[in-house]
Amino acid sequence: MPNSSPFLGQPEMINYLQYLTGGRKFGPFITSANLTPDASGKPAGLTLRDFITTLRTGHNPNDPPGQILQVMPWPVIGKKTDLDLTAIYEYLRAIPSLPDNPNPGP
Ligand code: HEM
Repeated sequence: MPNSSPFLGQPEMINYLQYLTGGRKFGPFITSANLTPDASGKPAGLTLRDFITTLRTGHNPNDPPGQILQVMPWPVIGKKTDLDLTAIYEYLRAIPSLPDNPNPGP
């Protein structure tokens, strides 16, 4: 959100209009994913099993074989326990479903 960078001493604000909808650009080819629930209520369209698999292996079973998520710190987050990852999944299931970020940021 404009004028809300804590790094510049500005008051921090949660971007609730685009909360967890991704769109952060990491170079020209990689954009962070929308983690909010899809129309059927699944975060990023993933079942719990596929969510845990994605974070453990870096491969989203819905992607073509061999494709590995880039930038995404799955080697770190994937070390969490099943209970932790399930808690993150349940949190993501509970937030509002929003469209992909229409204004991808830098
Ligand atoms: C607990 C924290 C996080 C969770 C649960 C999480 C979860 C996910 C999931 C499930 C995906 C795959 C979605 C899909 O394929 O549609 C994803 C993709 C992605 N995440 Fe994360 N993420 C987390 C933190 C981060 C952080 C800290 C960053 C960057 C600094 C990040 C950057 C990305 C990027 C760039 C992608 C897309 C990668 C690609 O398409 O190659 N994530 N994330």
